[in-house]
Amino acid sequence: MSAQLNNLGQAPAYVKHAKLKDWVASIAALTKPDRIYWCDGSDEEYSRLMGEMCATGMIKQLNPAKRPNSYLALSDPQDVARVEERTFVCSETQVAAGPMNNWVDPAEMRGTMNRLFDGCMRGRTMYVVPFSMGPLGSHIAQIGIELSDSPYVVVSMKLMTRMGRAVYDVLGSDGYFVPCVHSVGAPLQPGQPGARWPCNNEEKWIVHYPETREIWSFGSGYGGNALLGKKCLALRIASVMARDEGWLAEHMLILGVTNPQGEKTYVTGAFPSACGKTNFAMLVPPAGLEGWKVTTIGEDIAWIKPHKDGRLYAINPEAGYFGVAPGTNYHSNQNCMKAIEADTIFTNVAETPDGDVWWEGMTDKAPPRLTDWQGKEWTPAIGKNEGRLAAHPNSRFTVAATRCPSLDAQWDDPNGVPISAFLFGGRRSDTAPLIVESLDWEDGVYKAATLGSETTAAIAGKQGVVRRDPMAMIAFVGYNMGDYFKHWLKIGKSISQAPKIYQVNWFRKNAEGKFVWPGFGENMRVLKWVVERCQGKAGAKNTALGHTPDYTDLQWQGLDFSAEKYAVVTSLDKAQWQAELAMHDELFKKLEGYVPETLLETRRVQETKLAA
Ligand code: OXD
Ligand code: MN
Repeated sequence: MSAQLNNLGQAPAYVKHAKLKDWVASIAALTKPDRIYWCDGSDEEYSRLMGEMCATGMIKQLNPAKRPNSYLALSDPQDVARVEERTFVCSETQVAAGPMNNWVDPAEMRGTMNRLFDGCMRGRTMYVVPFSMGPLGSHIAQIGIELSDSPYVVVSMKLMTRMGRAVYDVLGSDGYFVPCVHSVGAPLQPGQPGARWPCNNEEKWIVHYPETREIWSFGSGYGGNALLGKKCLALRIASVMARDEGWLAEHMLILGVTNPQGEKTYVTGAFPSACGKTNFAMLVPPAGLEGWKVTTIGEDIAWIKPHKDGRLYAINPEAGYFGVAPGTNYHSNQNCMKAIEADTIFTNVAETPDGDVWWEGMTDKAPPRLTDWQGKEWTPAIGKNEGRLAAHPNSRFTVAATRCPSLDAQWDDPNGVPISAFLFGGRRSDTAPLIVESLDWEDGVYKAATLGSETTAAIAGKQGVVRRDPMAMIAFVGYNMGDYFKHWLKIGKSISQAPKIYQVNWFRKNAEGKFVWPGFGENMRVLKWVVERCQGKAGAKNTALGHTPDYTDLQWQGLDFSAEKYAVVTSLDKAQWQAELAMHDELFKKLEGYVPETLLETRRVQETKLAA
């Protein structure tokens, strides 16, 4: 037993925070783990936990000759995605949570949590995981402590956050931290063998108390349900902090664009889950755009604060990527493929006979034989006959940001980087054009607030259905969505140099149902236009929706994309837009009484313009 592994709840000497120690003891008294382990975040600890998980079968080491220091985890088939219908925002009143969140009275929810967590860690170790969201000690960062009975969570948090002993130095004896309690909800009786992927398929609860800024998660070991720094802290709880303190916590990538003259512009992009944020954040400019360069600050979350120079500055609170594997390949995302060549945890992908990984879209042709994400034999013929995928559509890789070849030099800057443009995009087969520039901040907030997207496998439930996903934050705003819109409008007024706001759509399809826009690296053509608009250099025409580039405003060198095809991805169809506005109305109806008048007025103006 190591010096820090004990069953007495004793913290190591370097933990000086009495309240934290009392809280850990109180959660241990409730959950009754066999052991408490205080994580130090060291590489040695990471390897030891990996060794222990390999021994229990929870994780498997991949062939080091193929993927050095990399592992594969296969989850329970019922624990594969975020569970939005089991996610709760338990504010003091239902109005504070608003119509888009599941709400239960906090007193009642505390009763439920106390019942579920009572003894839920029996037979297991409770890990104390200290982490910082954002550069350690940055004025924008927040500290969290996650108590979890999942060693998979510990190793994932090591890659995804600044996790470990240094957090206690920042915390000192009385620093503020967000308490996060997580259990897979699968206690073990003495001698009972543990499941390979323990979880609880009867009871799953992802619970937030916004006023007291607490997170309690029960029953799932997967992704955003279990790595509580990510969606729970960095979005749902942080959005409440941001509202109270005058900043923004957003579901956005952050990238830097350097032009051939060496000038750098930072842009963020909000897209719903599994709509290409990771690919866009790591984009490699295509042939014809030599001299342009994209660097990555973040690929999922941005914390954005007004600065005294009148601009907004953003940090990435995370330190790693939990990206969707299917579709990732050396063409769609070369930087990402390089990042995951080693030191990566894969979850729910398929395994090759020589101990490497594979997923749909990694190569044109599937290998002849695989073990699928459920551990079953898989061949292309089996896949075809049984309609069975080798990798789960929401299978993931978890890798530290420092492995990313396109990592921006400022990625760890405690002050963040100045933002010139916000992009908001959905997955839309029709209706939404390739790109539109908003007329002003209010118009941009309207476009972002009414964003629609076809649902993906990142969320348990039906796929491919258009739903409104305001600011790509439908599942992540920890308070009333109407107040969130007001907050956005207020932020615009609090700064003198507001970023320009764009609406984009890479996913338009033609009459045959095929994507028309090539996407991936070719999105650089649109990004270049955005950057040049911010610099006052690029032209545009006015449409009923806003400013859009003419065919000749984009650079086409190196790509065979005709003006006719361009017309397909940029056309505005009146009937589709009438249907679209009706869907905006449905959203506003759900939020009746909360929608700011400015947005309702923008809606009226929009209708008049589209009818003209
Ligand atoms: C994610 C998600 O994991 O949005 O980033 O689901
Ligand atoms: Mn996300």
